[in-house]
Amino acid sequence: MKRPLRTLFVASEAYPLIKTGGLADVAGYLPLALHDLGVEVTVVLPAYAHVLEQVKARVIAYVSTIRGYALIRETRLPNSKVRLWLVDHPLFAERPGNPYLNEEGEEWPDNAIRFGLFNQALAQLLAGKTAITRKFDIVHCHDWQTGLLPVYMHQEQLVTPTVFTIHNLAYQGIYPATMHGELKLPLSSWSHDGVEFHHMLSFIKGGLVYADRITTVSPTYADEIKRDEFGYGLSGLLLYRSDDLIGIINGIDTKTWNPATDPLIAEQYDVKRLDLKVENKLALQRATGLPHDPAVMVLGNVGRMVEQKGIDIILDALPELVKLPVQIVIEGTGESRFEARLAEAMSRWPDKVGGLVGYDEPLAHLIEAGADAFLMPSRFEPCGLNQMYSQAYGTLPIVYPTGGLRDTVVDATEQTLTEGAATGFYMDSLGKPGLYRAVVEALNLYADKAAWRRMQVTAMQQDFSWEHSAKEYLKLYQMLSRSAE
Ligand code: ADP
Ligand code: GLC
Repeated sequence: MKRPLRTLFVASEAYPLIKTGGLADVAGYLPLALHDLGVEVTVVLPAYAHVLEQVKARVIAYVSTIRGYALIRETRLPNSKVRLWLVDHPLFAERPGNPYLNEEGEEWPDNAIRFGLFNQALAQLLAGKTAITRKFDIVHCHDWQTGLLPVYMHQEQLVTPTVFTIHNLAYQGIYPATMHGELKLPLSSWSHDGVEFHHMLSFIKGGLVYADRITTVSPTYADEIKRDEFGYGLSGLLLYRSDDLIGIINGIDTKTWNPATDPLIAEQYDVKRLDLKVENKLALQRATGLPHDPAVMVLGNVGRMVEQKGIDIILDALPELVKLPVQIVIEGTGESRFEARLAEAMSRWPDKVGGLVGYDEPLAHLIEAGADAFLMPSRFEPCGLNQMYSQAYGTLPIVYPTGGLRDTVVDATEQTLTEGAATGFYMDSLGKPGLYRAVVEALNLYADKAAWRRMQVTAMQQDFSWEHSAKEYLKLYQMLSRSAE
């Protein structure tokens, strides 16, 4: 093929326009890395009001949908050459809350229609039923919100190869069976071998059954989801499709997350000026009202406050952790029961526990720079980004070795320490005692300044750039487009 490979990259959020989690980071940065490798990427998002406020996007086509017409608008991803299309329909107009949930944290009641329509409109576009004539070599879908696109493409008899990426199998987009008819899905798809899941409509099954290839965001998670324990009822299907399933680890944006140039931290540093890192600790202590103490070990955590992330394990361990010579800084939003417990802990141990119930990017950067170690006791973690940000900032991650955490953190053992390969600490079990023991182990090593510094340098020198992942996706795209020729 002479012209560049063309990919339609379909997602429900992309940094910096709209973000609720790591999916946005992937959809915001992977296309840039693919573009640098010569792929012509077109990203597509729903035209949420919040997105339209930030960009100027001209209308390039109309498309007929299951609920009247939608407009296709075109612009670029901010500060990039990557084309962005927006599917503009009144159902994506202004609402408080985020793309999926209202301000009370409940799902929007019309989510099935909203995302179903998004998928169906794109299938119409790909089938040439709009003014857009561009042809694509690959359609790359992400998470349940895009799971029905391969089904609608099948209905349109489109043969463009499709890739479906699982970012989190715990979110599946399950709706009442009546939605199948309302969304005008093909009758043939209503079966156990299609989108039916225990008599309900499953969006994610559309991707898992109809896409040509399935990827997920780390090799370990790709193995885990084939087991009942991690499969959320879909492990049998994933096992059946295991020849078509691979794990490709995510990258991080090394420009945004670089302590040598990060404008959001108090003092920039790198491996040669690692002594300056402590200025960030002092700034973090100031920002969170903790006592100024350059020597004390600071444990950080940033993330969605949900069980997946083990935030309950951290909160449960606090009464023991505060007895150690450490300070703990936590930033997060999520389930109100966890938010309330964090607020309570901050007032109960004001000299030991600080942080924020909220979403604040500058503080997230300061925590990465100012903490000594980063807590990530996730029950499952498809990839996880914070453990990679932490390493780039010389802040050693303490993790439960699951999914991407296992693939990106090297546990400190006698051997890895001698070899200079260690970059973090594995909990020996999931739960409060496992977390406590790992913190004590880190604390002991922290006392050995030379050993700690060596680990920090190894961590900071890891290459987590998007280029690696993008090359893997490119290989997959090339293989699929060749076999479709
Ligand atoms: P997930 O997508 O499961 O939430 P990831 O680790 O892949 O987990 O990505 C989470 C992203 O969201 C990271 O970029 C993290 O820094 C960011 N993040 C999560 N919660 C907050 C918060 N309260 N404030 C700032 N950033 C946050
Ligand atoms: C999901 C996962 C997280 C992953 C992110 C981006 O939200 O929970 O582990 O890093 O997607 O792929």
